[in-house]
Amino acid sequence: MLVAPSILSADFGKLSLEVGSICEAGCDYVHVDVMDGHFVPNLTMGPLVVQAVKKAATKPLDIHLMVQNNPFFVDLFAPLEPEFLSFHIEEEKHLHRLIQQTRKHGIRPAVALNPHTDESLLEYILSDIDMVLVMSVNPGFGGQKFIPSALEKIRRLKERIERRNPSCLIEVDGGVSDQNIHALKEAGVDMVVAGSYLFGSPDYRAAIASLRV
Ligand code: DX5
Ligand code: ZN
Repeated sequence: MLVAPSILSADFGKLSLEVGSICEAGCDYVHVDVMDGHFVPNLTMGPLVVQAVKKAATKPLDIHLMVQNNPFFVDLFAPLEPEFLSFHIEEEKHLHRLIQQTRKHGIRPAVALNPHTDESLLEYILSDIDMVLVMSVNPGFGGQKFIPSALEKIRRLKERIERRNPSCLIEVDGGVSDQNIHALKEAGVDMVVAGSYLFGSPDYRAAIASLRV
């Protein structure tokens, strides 16, 4: 299981130290939640702050856009060269075009699904993307409770991915902890995002290890 800590739950007063410690503790990616106050009722980081995160990180960035006007934000964050850039399907009329725009920057595109969004919407796009991000909470805030229906969605998505594009990864985001990690693994998840669970733990290394199933 790949582990991507969400720095939304880090102590922002010492953000670069937190990013350094979580990388040192053995994570695979640093998950960065970009919120615009429109797509979700919260505002987080712009490119200046994410640049500081990148400087402190020894692992690649996984940027999760929760915004309106995706094409603008893709171009805004592309110079930071994240490994993955995810955008929400609920906000996009021209998903195929946005995927191409992301690839042109040399970045691996990922599509995010809100809890109510059917995974079947991805049928004709799965072969064009490198990852699907399944939200298991309502996007906007860290520290929420895992929504159990995400598990069924992940199982169905896994079958679809095996048919369409077996190299596409499944990432789950929201309410992940050592309590549900085995069920997530069994359902077919490749990468977990964890915010409050990891940053709320006194030992980042042990907490990351507890998700390595
Ligand atoms: C929520 C974000 C998540 C969040 C996860 O909108 O996308 O990445 O930080 O936090 P936890 O792990 O606390 O649910
Ligand atoms: Zn996220």
